Amino acid sequence: MGITRRTFMGRAGILAAGATVGIPSMVLSANWKEEALKWQPQLQSKTPEENAKDESFWAWVRQCYTLNYNLINLNNGGVSPQPKQVQDAVDHHYHQSNQGPSYYMWRILDQGREPLRRELAEYAGCSPEELAINRNASEALETIIFGLNLKKGDEVLVNRYDYPNMLNAWKQREKREGIVLVYVNLDPVRMSDAQIKEAYVSNMSKKTKVLHITHLINWNGRILPVKAVADEAKARGIDVLCDGAHSFAHVPYSIPDLNCDYYGTSLHKWLSAPFGTGMMYIRKEKIASVWPLLAPEKPESDDIRKFESLGTRNFALEQGIREALEFQRWIGNENKHARLQYLKKYWTSKVASKADVEINTPLNPESSCSLVHLGYKGKTGAEIEQHLFGKYKVHCVAIDYEGLKGVRITPHVYTSLRDLDVLVEGILSLT
Ligand SMILES: Cc1ncc(COP(=O)(O)O)c(C=O)c1O
Repeated sequence: MGITRRTFMGRAGILAAGATVGIPSMVLSANWKEEALKWQPQLQSKTPEENAKDESFWAWVRQCYTLNYNLINLNNGGVSPQPKQVQDAVDHHYHQSNQGPSYYMWRILDQGREPLRRELAEYAGCSPEELAINRNASEALETIIFGLNLKKGDEVLVNRYDYPNMLNAWKQREKREGIVLVYVNLDPVRMSDAQIKEAYVSNMSKKTKVLHITHLINWNGRILPVKAVADEAKARGIDVLCDGAHSFAHVPYSIPDLNCDYYGTSLHKWLSAPFGTGMMYIRKEKIASVWPLLAPEKPESDDIRKFESLGTRNFALEQGIREALEFQRWIGNENKHARLQYLKKYWTSKVASKADVEINTPLNPESSCSLVHLGYKGKTGAEIEQHLFGKYKVHCVAIDYEGLKGVRITPHVYTSLRDLDVLVEGILSLT
């Protein structure tokens, strides 16, 4: 997904016109636009795999971020930094809002939501009428979890590697209303796609009403075969809710291809959008039957906007999503994916054969991308994390959870090979 000079100039024209009629405009510096455009012919003339190795391009991408070079941030899975242009856009909208909040937020910035919805939907591959903009994956997914019509005895399929916020939401419904959670037994390190599918299918029954499935498991990066499992669920009349918090803008796909009915993601993870931005997708014919958590005037409407009745919120952050999308388009989804796969292979291939190192993630490109769980025999995650930070200033996160013991390593597009060399040195010096 690249951007041509023609589409770029078209967008720029629309945005310039927008500025004169009082709708929010894109905040990109002329230099940055020019620099970004210069790379396009080169990116488009090569394959993603060739682009993945073009260190001069990725050095430019790195320069777009405002990094602290004393810290090697390898916890992009938690939340990612934003390129400078995204930060500038948020600052601009925020400062402008302070010139007259109710005027700028409710009359100017608010008008940017529909164009933004269209752009996000285009990127996600769905209709804008199926997409609501909100603050994070937890809000999107919990709104759906609490909004579904379920009764006592109805079963919901989950597994212990699903994200705790969502499991807590389902457990609350279990306590309050007597729905039943059925835990599918998964081994996200060793099971094949076929075994994972079978584990879900063997737990589907007439009582199963909802399948809750995480696309990319945050603990160890395993990509689950969502479509294959969802196809089985749909054939049995089971609704499918997909947690896409870690897969969106990380691995390329369009949401409808997953064959899920409901989906939620954060945009402040792999899209590098402002902190506290997210979105929800609901298949058009299902919207009317989901109750919003914050009630609008017509809660049974089939208008997806009923989920955006969130009260006063940070409009500046929301509008900053546009620059993050633009940045993503300039890099190109396939190029980003190829680069992240390249970075994964770069560091894992240098440490995998060291005695006592355990890579707790299947490394083939279909099963994982940039998020890898690393263990070391005899050490806890906290000990590995301290070792890497103490001398090497590599920041990552300890994950000792459900049989996994170690740290999670998540490079992003701005991560340099030199950063990874330091990581490798740190891992090789573990004793
Ligand atoms: C799989 C998964 N789902 C949902 C979330 C929640 O994301 P947020 O805190 O942005 O709401 C996370 C956060 O890390 C996650 O890893």
